[in-house]
Amino acid sequence: MKIEFLAKSVTSIETELLVLGLFQGQTKCEGDLGQIDDALDGAISQLIQQGDLEGKTKQSLLIHTLGKIPAKRLLVIGLGELDAFDAHVAREAAAVALREARKMKVAHFASAAFGLEEKKFSEHAVGQAFAEGAHLANYHFEGYGLGREPAQTVVQIDLLAPSPSQELRAGVDCGRAFAVGTNLARDLVNTPGNKMTPTDMAKQAVDIATRYSMQHEVLERADMERIGMGALLAVGQGSVEPPKMIVIKYQGKDTWDDVVGFVGKGITFDTGGISIKPSAKMDEMKTDMGGGATVLGAMEVIGQLRPKVNIVAVVASAENMPSGSAFKPGDVVQAMNGKTIEVVDTDAEGRLVLADGVAYAQKLGATKVIDLATLTGAVTIALGSVASGALTNNADFLAEFMTSAKSVGEKVWELPAFDEYKEQIKTPIADVKNIGGRLAGAITAGLFVGAFIEDTTSWIHLDIAGTAYTDNDSPSTPKGATGVMVRSLAQFAKQYADSGR
Ligand code: BES
Ligand code: ZN
Ligand code: ZN
Repeated sequence: MKIEFLAKSVTSIETELLVLGLFQGQTKCEGDLGQIDDALDGAISQLIQQGDLEGKTKQSLLIHTLGKIPAKRLLVIGLGELDAFDAHVAREAAAVALREARKMKVAHFASAAFGLEEKKFSEHAVGQAFAEGAHLANYHFEGYGLGREPAQTVVQIDLLAPSPSQELRAGVDCGRAFAVGTNLARDLVNTPGNKMTPTDMAKQAVDIATRYSMQHEVLERADMERIGMGALLAVGQGSVEPPKMIVIKYQGKDTWDDVVGFVGKGITFDTGGISIKPSAKMDEMKTDMGGGATVLGAMEVIGQLRPKVNIVAVVASAENMPSGSAFKPGDVVQAMNGKTIEVVDTDAEGRLVLADGVAYAQKLGATKVIDLATLTGAVTIALGSVASGALTNNADFLAEFMTSAKSVGEKVWELPAFDEYKEQIKTPIADVKNIGGRLAGAITAGLFVGAFIEDTTSWIHLDIAGTAYTDNDSPSTPKGATGVMVRSLAQFAKQYADSGR
């Protein structure tokens, strides 16, 4: 989808659809809306008076212009109360506009850049919000049905901007990059397990790295054996699909120091292994590489925006299968940092692959690590599908990340990492065991990963099991994979670079 700028006056635009915003409680039509209202003989003011147009968020009203202006149809989008109007409202408004256009089978339309007239936030934020909301809402997963009509999507939007500033243009580019990365993660997660194996994930990573000239490596079984990645190898040993340790290095600074590690769980299908899951809803476990997909989506954004920061992205990928060669409950395995693990439950496999993932990221120079995983059912019990659960060993680092997440409208909630919880993953048999009982399951799972973080490393763990996939359809997030945390990671990288460290 292209976003172009249009300098024409609003009453002279020839288009299938013209989109304008209206604030709640606004009784007078001003600016572009005022000009259109005049041209339509006061139709909009009348609709407002009659209570047909309230300007509430998520609401929209289609008005046929019947030849009074060159735009064939006018769509008025609610922007809510002016006091509460921010970039998040603007992003959702763009998403609503795009979804309405898709419903009407309009592939090319013109729209106001919500917030440009009001100047409540920067022109960069105006451009970013619009482009992000529109591109996110234009997403659809192609699927594999034979002979189906292709999905209706929008191919071009003309943004009304009389003299688009450099800032507005940069905002649009940034919003597009954020959404393209998110949509890429959505595609990877929505793809079924037989078409998104660890080998396929590795190919996707190599594609991204090649596209943006980033260094990369894919460790094979033999490499992992040499390095001693016993945890990832154990999870992968029951499958005919070979596990992969996937790495992309992005060097945005002159020297390879102060490296941030993004580490994702890349379980391309989680049967539970020998501790097998019930069959109901097991199909959803094709989404168990959501953390890895987020990391790859974020690298796509970073490749486009090239912030001055060093990132090492690691996706620890395997298929968790039961078979004659599968690892078993009671097995003891050794991660690459030498720590031993008692595998009490083969369904707690995400933390095992992450153990080697975070250890490898640190070996490659990461002094800050953010790991992401669809790790536990327990986090969905605690936070539902609203917020991703976080754990950290460094409150300042988490606060900084939460600022990024908040600024892109993604919700993160911290879970406590008290030492007492660590008791639950102690075992006489090994350094640590991979389950800590039913209580505080999301916390003990995260603390297990934390056991592979060095004392000098700042670490954030994000459990996205409740947020990576949704059954609800909303304008910017259709049903299915959400691509959650791609924008937060990318925003963090940008913010970290801007802070000049
Ligand atoms: N992949 C699952 C977690 C999950 C559950 C993700 C629901 C998305 C939706 C993970 O590997 C798992 O099976 N976790 C177990 C841990 C238990 C065995 C300690 C769980 O949460 O039940
Ligand atoms: Zn599992
Ligand atoms: Zn899993």
